[in-house]
Amino acid sequence: MKALVLAGGSGTRLRPFSYSMPKQLIPVANVPVLEYVVRNVLDLGVTEIGVIVGDRVDEIRKALGDGSRFGARLTYIQQDAPRGLAHTVAIARDFLGDDDFVMYLGDNMLPEGIADIAEEFTTHRSAAHVVVYKVPDPRAFGVAELGPGGEVLRLVEKPEQPRSDLALIGVYFFTAAIHQAVRAIEPSARGELEITDAIQWLVSAGADVRASQYEGYWKDTGNVEDVLECNRYVLESLRPAVEGEVDDASVLTGPVVIEEGARIVRSRIEGPAIIGAGTVVEDSHIGPHTSIGRGCVVAGSRLEYSIALDGASVTGVQGLSSSLIGRSATVGTVGESTDRYRLVVGDDTRVEVAA
Ligand code: TTP
Repeated sequence: MKALVLAGGSGTRLRPFSYSMPKQLIPVANVPVLEYVVRNVLDLGVTEIGVIVGDRVDEIRKALGDGSRFGARLTYIQQDAPRGLAHTVAIARDFLGDDDFVMYLGDNMLPEGIADIAEEFTTHRSAAHVVVYKVPDPRAFGVAELGPGGEVLRLVEKPEQPRSDLALIGVYFFTAAIHQAVRAIEPSARGELEITDAIQWLVSAGADVRASQYEGYWKDTGNVEDVLECNRYVLESLRPAVEGEVDDASVLTGPVVIEEGARIVRSRIEGPAIIGAGTVVEDSHIGPHTSIGRGCVVAGSRLEYSIALDGASVTGVQGLSSSLIGRSATVGTVGESTDRYRLVVGDDTRVEVAA
């Protein structure tokens, strides 16, 4: 079996971050989402991985390399524009050959892994095997209607009146039968080659298409709220480790990771929380459920349920919560004033202050 990992796309829901970085490299517990994806694929024993990339190819290549550090062989396949999930299968045809493959969206987190589903696929070896997840409001998803044995009867993309609450999530298994389906479909109303249309084409052609219901934790990290929530979940199983320096006036409670070269001075770190390599924290209270990247400075601040990316600086700010702070971004105060804000805010940025 091979794998096709999707790390292109436009990432409009994760602006402004996606203006300057591929959204699949947003860190969860200080590790890029895409790295969790690759590791889940490797856990299946799959080492031949095609990575679909858009115009952010250089950064993704820098993060994953040729795969040798994971014991994998990565082949980068460039997509000229986000033309849909089925389009990525079409352009990966040479890489995939006639092998079975798992297609995995590079922004989807399934921390408990996908080994059980892979086993169901290899047992039945249906033309397509999709993964469904019970959601309260399926209208924003591809929705599957299933028969009693887990066979897919019908797939509908973003239905106004869903006939089930089972949404398709970002992991799919295929045999080479999918290639004929991908060639047969036309772009949808939004101009994309939809993978749901290709799978529905297989269903209509009488092919065996099955679904497994995923019961573990799943998150599409496509927007800020879901990134923060996923970070909270992953941090819950953090194994504590202190490799940096913590002075005598500081207190660590709960599971805390202090990476190498980080310095904690007169501060309280409330786990689960992770402080990245080379970061300096002074006179601050961080956590719970907070990740601070590498080379950051946090001074005189209070920060909870948040993520700061590498090189960020937070000084003199109390009560930061549910915040995602970008690479080398600065959050600070304006002198002694309590009734003024000074903002240098980029495109599509969101700032929320107390009323
Ligand atoms: P989406 O999150 O559905 O699409 P997007 O990246 O365009 O995001 P947004 O809706 O915020 O604009 O894509 C799911 C995953 O698949 C994501 O990792 C990007 C990737 N992808 C591709 O690689 N090529 C594509 O043509 C599309 C549509 C997505």
